[in-house]
Amino acid sequence: MTKTKYVLSTENVHKYFGGVKALEGVTVAVERGKLTSLIGPNGSGKSTFYNVVTGFLQFEKGDASVTFKTDDIANLEPSIIARKGMVRTFQHTRNFPKMTVLENMLVSPQKQAGESVIWAFLGKRLWMKQEKYNIKKAQVILNFLEIGQVSEHLAEELSGGQQKLLAIGRLLMTQPSLLLLDEPVAGVNPTLANKIFDRIIELKDKKGIEVFLIEHNMDVIMAFSDEIYVLAEGKVIAQGTPEEVQKNRQVLAAYLGESPEEA
Ligand SMILES: Nc1ncnc2c1ncn2[C@@H]1O[C@H](COP(=O)(O)OP(=O)(O)OP(=O)(O)O)[C@@H](O)[C@H]1O
Ligand SMILES: [Mg+2]
Repeated sequence: MTKTKYVLSTENVHKYFGGVKALEGVTVAVERGKLTSLIGPNGSGKSTFYNVVTGFLQFEKGDASVTFKTDDIANLEPSIIARKGMVRTFQHTRNFPKMTVLENMLVSPQKQAGESVIWAFLGKRLWMKQEKYNIKKAQVILNFLEIGQVSEHLAEELSGGQQKLLAIGRLLMTQPSLLLLDEPVAGVNPTLANKIFDRIIELKDKKGIEVFLIEHNMDVIMAFSDEIYVLAEGKVIAQGTPEEVQKNRQVLAAYLGESPEEA
């Protein structure tokens, strides 16, 4: 099958919370091989957009579309979307605090999750073999993310940055083709933030995993993005390369709270 140019694309997506217009006609396309970022002031609708495209929030379909590769995925269940290969982190990490790092990795949504009936047929020996394989796979991923040394620690004992890495690690267990990362370095010190980004770039360039990113850290956004979309009050107000976006007057105005004429 020929590869589509875009791994994810949306057209005209709206989401209202009562009177709050969180998304108003959002059209975005994530091109293969291009690290695409979504930026915008607080409350501009970035996380809502992730929630909608990954099925965590339902939206009024109308004439909107959400396409992953060639599939119409609008309003599908999150687990179905994840199985297709698109997975996301949450702004507030959702690891299991009282479980070890390794255990967290093993309860990540596996490809075989929900297929317990099959396992009942296959029997205990095969199940153990699969579990052994998963442990090995988890260790390789944890080492890659440089948190292998804390695999027996409780998740709650990790630093903020390590928690974010664990969340990414749990997604990698599912062998995704597209990672949606909601503020992967928020609250992380600059040294670790750069380390996390090195890993993210390696996933993209060496392992062929597409990356779509929400981030407030402008240093990393400008350094690593190929394409940037800017949201303000639920609308895409600009799109382009870091250079283009940086000098866009509407973008400056949205961030500074001024009218474009004054910016
Ligand atoms: N579940 C919800 N119920 C009601 N309103 C919501 C809900 N989720 C988001 N909103 C509102 O929708 C708007 C967009 O919020 P969203 O969290 O998507 O913004 P954001 O761009 O991710 O902001 P931040 O940068 O602070 O994370 C805000 O006005 C927010 O209060
Ligand atoms: Mg958010």
